[in-house]
Amino acid sequence: MAQLIKGFSKLSREEKVQVLIEQQKLAPTLSSTFSKYLHPSNQHLFNTISENLISNYLLPFSLAPNFLINDRLYIVPMVIEESSVVAAASKAATFWANNGGFKTSVIDTVKNGQIFFSLNTDISTLKPYKNELLALFQSVTIDITKNMRARGGGIIDFELLSVDKVAHTHQVLIKFKTGDSMGANFINTCLETISPHLIHFINKKLNLKKEQQAEHIMSILSNYTPECIVECKVYCPIEKLKPYAGEYTAHEFAKRFKMAVDIAVNDPYRAVTHNKGIFNGVDAVVLATGNDFRAVEAGAQAYASRGKRYSSLTAVNLSDTHFEYTLQLPLALGTVGGLTNSHPLAQAAINILGNPTATELMEITASAGMANNFGAVASLVTTGIQKGHMKLHLVNILNTLGASDEEKETVNKHFKATVVSFSMVENYLNELRK
Ligand code: MEV
Repeated sequence: MAQLIKGFSKLSREEKVQVLIEQQKLAPTLSSTFSKYLHPSNQHLFNTISENLISNYLLPFSLAPNFLINDRLYIVPMVIEESSVVAAASKAATFWANNGGFKTSVIDTVKNGQIFFSLNTDISTLKPYKNELLALFQSVTIDITKNMRARGGGIIDFELLSVDKVAHTHQVLIKFKTGDSMGANFINTCLETISPHLIHFINKKLNLKKEQQAEHIMSILSNYTPECIVECKVYCPIEKLKPYAGEYTAHEFAKRFKMAVDIAVNDPYRAVTHNKGIFNGVDAVVLATGNDFRAVEAGAQAYASRGKRYSSLTAVNLSDTHFEYTLQLPLALGTVGGLTNSHPLAQAAINILGNPTATELMEITASAGMANNFGAVASLVTTGIQKGHMKLHLVNILNTLGASDEEKETVNKHFKATVVSFSMVENYLNELRK
């Protein structure tokens, strides 16, 4: 077994790479690959973002134009590695811009924090003290919440709950508004400040003997934000859908689209993939703007499971004449603080969007999700997705196979009218090279 590495974080970047190459018996040339992707003048900015950094990992920063959202036109920055996502988003955005655009609204922006404690008493014994407790939470955080309160945020309310099936274990579920910041640090600081006061309050008010006293377990924000919700809608006469209908009539297409969404509403295997198509757009904007994609994913996937089973985040409403498509999802996003301010490209993304508020960013992000999902489902019920996807993926295949510019040109010409797969491209290239 290889030796455990001691004091790795204390080594210089070059020493870390050396240790890596020696311990894992990797090619020494890797060292220059890592060096090549260091930033020539601004590396110090990236060095502080994470730990044990040895290089930078580049992802494409792309633009999807023509997003008409609540009558305002946006060019949406997207950071994503998957071919065809940006193209599909741009195409759907342009289509909907010509058909009324995306209509969005933020339903609420409440976020949650949890303080867990053990107490061998029914939680209802604390209910008479609810107002006193809220005043306590607000007063002990008065300095921390000052700026947030000035922006209309802060601690809003809380619930006293017991944890199902875990004996003598309870929580205060505190409701926050965090203005234009995502608020994770703000919420966690508030919770850790409140928790000793909460425990002291309980023990004193309930007059508990030492062995019966409440004990703090943990305090942390919740990434489940079912009250921080954005809704995005598109709506048009069914005939207008013809550009997406392929060989079907617009009405046949609308019916097939509805069937596909109804399947996703009712079948969890399909719902996960359907929602993945939404997250192609959502995550790309979340990443571009320096937001926490893990928090967004965890929260929204949980939201998709809030009913009896995991389900689609979208729904179709089809009348005889009109098509209406709605997406609803929780998005805990920020436009100030964190990586949004410190990463130059995240800052650029925020600038491109016209320095939106957090609620505007929720609306833009949901629209990107809707655009990608609409494009994906439309392809699935008409041509299938591989035709468009693999054409765009061809360039990745050619790069993987180390094709020269000349070879790329010949291969591109050959596959213009045929189906693309990795092995077909590989075989063709091998023939060409003979
Ligand atoms: C691929 O990235 C996304 C899709 O699978 C989404 C869907 O199936 O709806 C095409």
